[in-house]
Amino acid sequence: MQWWRDAVVYQIYVRSFSDSDGDGVGDLEGVRSRLGYLELLGVDALRLTPFYTSPMVDHGYDVADPRNVDHVFGGLDTFDGLVTDAHEHGLRVTIDLVPNHTSSEHEWFRAALDSAPGSPERARYHFRPGRGPHGEEPPNNWTSVFGAPAWTRVQDIDDAGEWGPGEWYLHLRAPDQPDLNWTNPEVWADTEKTLRFWLDRGVDGFHIDTALGMSKPDGLPDSPEDLPGADVSTAALDDDPRFDHDGVHDVHRMIRAVLDHYPGRVVAGEVRLRDVERFAHYLRPDELHLGVDVRLMHAPFDADAVREAIESSLAAVEKVGAPPTWTLSTHDVPRPVTRYGRGPVGCARARAMALVELALPGAVCLYNGEELGLPDVELPDAVLQDPIWEHSGRTERGRDACRVPMPWEGGAPGFGFTSGEPWLPMPPEYGELTAADQLEDTASTLSLIRRAVELRKTHPGFRGSSVEWFGAPAGCLAFRRAGSTLVCALNASAEAVPLPPGDVLLASGQLQGNLLPPDTAAWLT
Ligand code: NOJ
Repeated sequence: MQWWRDAVVYQIYVRSFSDSDGDGVGDLEGVRSRLGYLELLGVDALRLTPFYTSPMVDHGYDVADPRNVDHVFGGLDTFDGLVTDAHEHGLRVTIDLVPNHTSSEHEWFRAALDSAPGSPERARYHFRPGRGPHGEEPPNNWTSVFGAPAWTRVQDIDDAGEWGPGEWYLHLRAPDQPDLNWTNPEVWADTEKTLRFWLDRGVDGFHIDTALGMSKPDGLPDSPEDLPGADVSTAALDDDPRFDHDGVHDVHRMIRAVLDHYPGRVVAGEVRLRDVERFAHYLRPDELHLGVDVRLMHAPFDADAVREAIESSLAAVEKVGAPPTWTLSTHDVPRPVTRYGRGPVGCARARAMALVELALPGAVCLYNGEELGLPDVELPDAVLQDPIWEHSGRTERGRDACRVPMPWEGGAPGFGFTSGEPWLPMPPEYGELTAADQLEDTASTLSLIRRAVELRKTHPGFRGSSVEWFGAPAGCLAFRRAGSTLVCALNASAEAVPLPPGDVLLASGQLQGNLLPPDTAAWLT
């Protein structure tokens, strides 16, 4: 049963969702306590960001033990309880898998540091001698995607038995996130073990982190051009020598082969490519089920750009018969309300784009807080935690602004997220956006998203896997799913325009009689 083909997947950045023990950091018990809310929201599945044992340099994307739960987030018992309860609430549970790199605190990396160049321990990572007369230059000219060089030098013992500067190791992100060497069979075997470990505990699937990584070019040659750093954590990765090498598809085939032994489980990954052919490769019948597509997220609030993004995403999956997978928001990019213009305009546009997204065929990924219309938060330098901030030499602020914890209820600091001090400060404005208040307000963003998710699930107009476009006034778009009666119209222009014919089923804002105002979308039947 391919439940994921039209699923709404709700991404939980565990650290920022709900804190059960007052330490200011969200945890698995916190997620468990909010399952009723998630059921009410109507989503089909959860995607939990990494909760594994980690020094938290990249907030869990630096995994020290992929088969255990970090004490900050709970324990294996908490995880098992969460999966059982989620299933009782009709929610599937998918989890992030981080196969491209480990933490520098992983026992393998520690062993590598304690071992000599050329040892089997070093062969699990990319260790190389440096260039230059004394090996003082990195083995190639790559920068890390967090900024700064992608290589760090370690201390080794020389022929005279003295410690001194030695080999370099590769890290496409922070130095605390060494890249694994996927030509080493031990890496394959260990990843397979991790997959089975969680599948046997009942997870419904995985989101593969850095899905374009893993495979490196033979010989790790220099890049002919300067590589982008720091801003690239969200950009498309076409023609980036660090990513999208053909060998990565063998990794996805291995992962898929393991999952195929567990019926009904899904494997997804973010495929940050513009090229439709290369995009489609990741969704061949023996690779990912879902390729999270960032084209729509990258499109500005402009009808032509939105239509082009949708058409290109549909074209990318069509040939391989995979469903498209839409997202407007993740823990790595500015939130839609902020991206589309901030304040009431940004909010109206984010609501409109949510209706566009939820009208489309395929799977949809929501990111926690998107349903509340949360904006990014302007944080002072002193509280920034994303490694991008330090590794870019404090030139890029990183992604903390979209990771501020969820406001659940009340007006007091913590807003029901925590009884302690939240790990990132929650601004007073979040008090006006709490889930509790929005549940009571039929005009709220939460009520809009709830209703849209419900209609998407129950209304016959949401059948059909292709899209037909209608003529629309300049700056607007209108489409329906082929063979269905439901029309989605978006007005991204500055003037109100006549609504297409039909009865309004849902609108993202107040309509003006028969007119669709600017920054508004409507569903009609
Ligand atoms: C992608 C994740 O979404 C991001 O948050 C993380 O920093 C990198 N992968 C590294 O694992």
